[in-house]
Amino acid sequence: PSRMLTVLGASIALSFSASALAQNPIVIKFSHVVADATPKGQGAMKFKEVAEKLLPGKVTVQVFPNSQLFGDAKEMEAVLLGDVQFIAPSLSKFDRYTKQVQLFDLPFLFDDMEAVDRFQGSAEGKALLNSMTNRGLKGMAYWHNGMKQLSTNKDKLTRPEDIKGLKFRIQASDVLEAQFRQLGANPQKLAFAEVYQALQTGVVDGQENTWSNIYSQKFHEVQKTIANTNHGVIDYMVVTNAKWWDGLPEDIRAGLEKAMEEATVFANNKAAELNERDRKRILEANQAKVQELSKEDVAAWRKAMEPVWKKFEADIGADLIQSALKSNQ
Ligand code: LMR
Repeated sequence: PSRMLTVLGASIALSFSASALAQNPIVIKFSHVVADATPKGQGAMKFKEVAEKLLPGKVTVQVFPNSQLFGDAKEMEAVLLGDVQFIAPSLSKFDRYTKQVQLFDLPFLFDDMEAVDRFQGSAEGKALLNSMTNRGLKGMAYWHNGMKQLSTNKDKLTRPEDIKGLKFRIQASDVLEAQFRQLGANPQKLAFAEVYQALQTGVVDGQENTWSNIYSQKFHEVQKTIANTNHGVIDYMVVTNAKWWDGLPEDIRAGLEKAMEEATVFANNKAAELNERDRKRILEANQAKVQELSKEDVAAWRKAMEPVWKKFEADIGADLIQSALKSNQ
């Protein structure tokens, strides 16, 4: 009889834990590499807020900023392994998964962030969200950051010849590597979390980034000059594990989709404002000098970087480049 009781007890315990499981919220981890006070940081927090409001008790969203949980080197594998559910890498970091997204790294392709936005909203832009599903990554949305500026530990930074022989930290992108080689500089791929120290210790002389990333990482404290080049973009794709997503209950998927839409609008509306705010803060901090460029200076950078396009045209696709160019209107 005591054996019967044990079996009975075990089955009661089992059914309890099964119903407890059914009521436990699904834990969704969102990992990224930047600070909270940046466009992506704000977008991730908005996603958490809206998702938990729309799906009360059904999901818990945990946001991990600043490469706390996973940095650049590990985050994509982490999504594929199911250790984290959402990440939003810069579009420069996908070239192991698709060549087409390299488009966004072509120097001086987009005139401004409005053009980036128009392209991403076009049929060709939206199609790129699905360009990695065969590799297990589902693109959920594009989130904006802004135009890139170039910084170095030198006083003079107005023309391409000023960076000859200098070492630059780049994101893990072959296009960006080619861009700096074309200028006679030495690019080095480094994870975002390592950039400040690399600049501070002189492992590299310079880097390229948006105002919000420069300010929130304090790069302006370890650089002498930031040239207002606007020579490229840093923008993101929020991605998730396609298999995990397809296996979610219908109502959860719908709620998360809605939350992603709201977070996208919120982050994208905030991006320009945060970059402008941080540009001003950098000016006020009066540490690195902000170098404005003349039309002729900018034309010189554009001309010097132009050969990079031809190198990647076959990989990216000439038609896709043409579609992107049309968005400049
Ligand atoms: C970088 O590595 O410089 C950026 O991609 C970081 C980011 O996510 O904005």
